[in-house]
Amino acid sequence: TTDASATPTSHSHFDGVDLQLLAERIATPFHAYSASAIHQRIEALKTALVGLDATICFAVKANPNLAILQLMANAGLGADIVSVGELRRALNAGMPAERIVFSGVGKSADEIAGALNVGIMRFNVESLDELHTLQRIARAQEVTARAAVRINPDVDAQTHAKISTGKSENKFGVSIDEARRWFAQRKSFDHVQLDGLHVHIGSQILDVQPFRLALARVAAFWRELEHAGHPITSIDVGGGLGVCYRAGVDHPVSTTDYVAAIREALAGFRGRLLLEPGRWLVAEAGVLLTRVIRVKPGTERNFLILDAAMNDLLRPSLYDAWHDIVPVSDQPRPMATYDIVGPVCETGDTFASARELPECAAGDLLLIKATGAYGTSMASTYNSRPLAAEVLLHQGRYAVIRRRQHFEEMIAGEQPARNWKTP
Ligand code: LLP
Repeated sequence: TTDASATPTSHSHFDGVDLQLLAERIATPFHAYSASAIHQRIEALKTALVGLDATICFAVKANPNLAILQLMANAGLGADIVSVGELRRALNAGMPAERIVFSGVGKSADEIAGALNVGIMRFNVESLDELHTLQRIARAQEVTARAAVRINPDVDAQTHAKISTGKSENKFGVSIDEARRWFAQRKSFDHVQLDGLHVHIGSQILDVQPFRLALARVAAFWRELEHAGHPITSIDVGGGLGVCYRAGVDHPVSTTDYVAAIREALAGFRGRLLLEPGRWLVAEAGVLLTRVIRVKPGTERNFLILDAAMNDLLRPSLYDAWHDIVPVSDQPRPMATYDIVGPVCETGDTFASARELPECAAGDLLLIKATGAYGTSMASTYNSRPLAAEVLLHQGRYAVIRRRQHFEEMIAGEQPARNWKTP
């Protein structure tokens, strides 16, 4: 049997792997992902989608490690990309171009040309200027680009402001009124097959209602377009499904309820459905393993200083995001209250404030939980700290899928100022 989700009282094992032993092999801090947990999520989503013509396009930004993308590709998933870098990763991992969708407000002409050249499935177009650029490049390449218009449905996703994307004041997508005008002049874009709709209202959404609202608006528009003689062959419902970061407090939407909302809103739709989940597939399948460097009693607070920092996991610093933090050892100990911080020279390098934890000592191994999404993908080398290693776990075994960055790699490309030129 697999041990993808350790019991609430024990965090000594993850996907059957003894974490104390693992941390003797791999220097902390490092990210560990449970392959079993990712597979369980993929299967759960596929099961909920049974009977629908649906393609799951993993949002690469959530976790772009090649081994993770390979796992997704082998499970039959496609990719949602937002840059040529992500396109190259997806192709490199063996994802067929016909399962790749390209989103984002700032696709450059070069990126559009590159994606068109390899024949991706679809562009999610976010502005009239982008539509013109796509038409121009497709004409030059003598191909027809398949495109969807990203609708901004003006719906409040009720999530953190920095990851909300579906309000009219956000930079993403276009209003239904503008999209209507695009379809009316569809014929003038003779190298763009504009026959899809796309919507993505935000991330870490814990309530099904915003999804329902957005889908209802998209569905009404789809019906209107069909009546007006503009057939729609694909509807991309985006990503955004939230996960549990705080046990007992966050209650994610079930896949059944989520897919039921899709089925209900899009009843009668005969085309292909696309989904772009990122976080939901990988967040809870990942943990950040870190050791206590020292405990520092302060005048106001006690600080637990870890060897992981904001450069390894930015979410708490950037969004005040909560991540559960637990000791790996099961040894019973009295509880204590700590500010849990990293070594980086910023007060913002704080994972948790006034957090209750079993009493810790230098050298203790801790888990920061649910770091499988937007962990390494937002990592940096701030304070000249090397990028952490990543390890994939599966049923008692582990494989290093990214070794810790070497110092030489960190400074590669930097050079002394010589050969001065005028531009
Ligand atoms: N599709 C589009 C067009 C997106 O912009 C995103 C995420 C997704 C799909 C995937 O959304 P998900 O299923 O992962 O919620 N760094 C932030 C999250 C930013 C999400 C950006 N867009 C965080 O750490 O919370």
